[in-house]
Amino acid sequence: MACYFRRAIAEQVSRAVGVSSEKILHHIHAIPVHRKRESRDFQLHLKSLLNDPLDAASYQEKTEILTDKFISDSTISEFELARGVLTFTVNRPLLVKKVLHKIRHDGSRYGFTSELLSDVPKGLTLVEYSSPNISKKFHVGHLRSTIIGNFIANLKKAVGNEVIRVNYLGDWGLQFGLLGAGFSKFGCEEKLKSNALQHLFEVYVKVNAEADKDEEMKQSAYEFMKKLESGHPQALSLWTHFRGLSIEEYSKVYKRLGVQFDEYSGESFYIEKSQDVLNLLQNKNILTITKDGTGVVDLTENRDMSAYSTVMRSDRTSLYITRDIAAAIDRMEKYNFDEMVYVTDKSQQKHFQNLFKILKMLGKDKVNHCHHVMFGRVQGMQTRRGDVVFLEDVLDEARARMLQNMAKTETSKPIEDPADTAEKIGVAALIIQDFKGQLQSDYRFNWDEALQSCGDTGVFLQYTHARLQSLLTLWSTREEEDFNVSCLQEPTAIATVKHLLRYDEVIQKTLKELQPRYMVAYLMGLGHLANVAHNALHVKGSSQEVAHARLYLFNTIRVVLSSGMKLLGITPVDKM
Ligand code: ARG
Repeated sequence: MACYFRRAIAEQVSRAVGVSSEKILHHIHAIPVHRKRESRDFQLHLKSLLNDPLDAASYQEKTEILTDKFISDSTISEFELARGVLTFTVNRPLLVKKVLHKIRHDGSRYGFTSELLSDVPKGLTLVEYSSPNISKKFHVGHLRSTIIGNFIANLKKAVGNEVIRVNYLGDWGLQFGLLGAGFSKFGCEEKLKSNALQHLFEVYVKVNAEADKDEEMKQSAYEFMKKLESGHPQALSLWTHFRGLSIEEYSKVYKRLGVQFDEYSGESFYIEKSQDVLNLLQNKNILTITKDGTGVVDLTENRDMSAYSTVMRSDRTSLYITRDIAAAIDRMEKYNFDEMVYVTDKSQQKHFQNLFKILKMLGKDKVNHCHHVMFGRVQGMQTRRGDVVFLEDVLDEARARMLQNMAKTETSKPIEDPADTAEKIGVAALIIQDFKGQLQSDYRFNWDEALQSCGDTGVFLQYTHARLQSLLTLWSTREEEDFNVSCLQEPTAIATVKHLLRYDEVIQKTLKELQPRYMVAYLMGLGHLANVAHNALHVKGSSQEVAHARLYLFNTIRVVLSSGMKLLGITPVDKM
């Protein structure tokens, strides 16, 4: 594994130039594998050994010492210093042995136990994601929030944090006034039971249209909302009913996506606590009442009101941001988290900046550990029913299209539950398409592109995993038995091992920037290497010893591929 070699290199360099090996360790990087040419294994920039990067004399001195003193040994077989970069090639048999043994030993924890991640702060991370609005559209933005949040929660957990997954529902506001006022006219209890999300949306659309024309309907919506705000038992019980059924339904759909939550929270939880927030703001003298009676917080340094945030309506009721302030303070007190991550599209950037600013004004220092992870817009995600309205539609579409593709391919093997397999592949396709680029960028979604079986797609990853799995099942070997390293010295085998070696660095980078694209690129690389290896390193027709070594390699590839896919939120399939 990488740490073993990094350490060996660091120790030798340290002995030569007198810099502590701990310091050097973090600057040694595995060199990514190139498809065409062979490269060295590790590199270290000489500059990283200097205390003062401008110290030319010391640079020259270190260069000379290193060229003189560095020797090849049983671990490091070659060493070169060129243009300020030290590169190293390590002993081939040792490389294969160390990496494959480590994967075999660590299994799905491989990479996450690396020394590289030892200084990652561990603690309680609260991740808030998905957060749709009941009775309104579940748009593509909510889908992105769901899969990105799930990925962040998986990642934080995998590197040793305790994680709480929160869904903060939009379960308050005028939409409930409208539903409450119009349900008796447009609603149907049976339809509500059979598909709450769809039915509430239908009712909402109808009442909304009616309220646009009919002043009376609008008025009764306001009245219902008022009743809710003041805790009227009947109004509340209808609201609880809608909310409960919606959550039941959401959980089912999330399950199809492989996503779950520890807590379904929502704006409604913070109606009363918002009043406490307003009092707190008032006591701290940061609430200004305007002449229309609304309450605002001045966000400027010199208090000139050139930037402010409205936190109170003239009837003293709360707004979206007020409830967020209350929710944040509540979570700080209730969980005493070490870090909190909100995942929404970038249109809410200002909202979260204001939120964090107000929390800071309130002296809530934990806000320094709150982050807003934002993402760009997706265009062109259409289902057969048109624009995305429900998460279920997207999943149905992905499954249906995938089933169709599977039926077309002759090579598809008979599988027990084709719909389930199609769903897992379809979800993988959605996730990879979404995670390929920088999260902040907008992108155009295309079903055909996402569902291609070659190219950098989720289908390709699933295909590679299934192909490896079926090879391993076909030739079930005694895995506990060791293998002969000399049977794995072909350039293809070495390149694959070198790629496997780099997994911890990729985890580290993915974590540092909270960008899944590094992991996606890595897994695509692994997938291509796996297929090349599969075609070049035959098991059939090889001697028992060679076959065993190759299967050992294939199994380690499968372990790492599966681990990376799961981290992204994909359930690997064994057959397709
Ligand atoms: N329900 C909101 C929406 O759909 C997203 C909530 C984001 N989270 C938060 N704490 N404000 O736009």
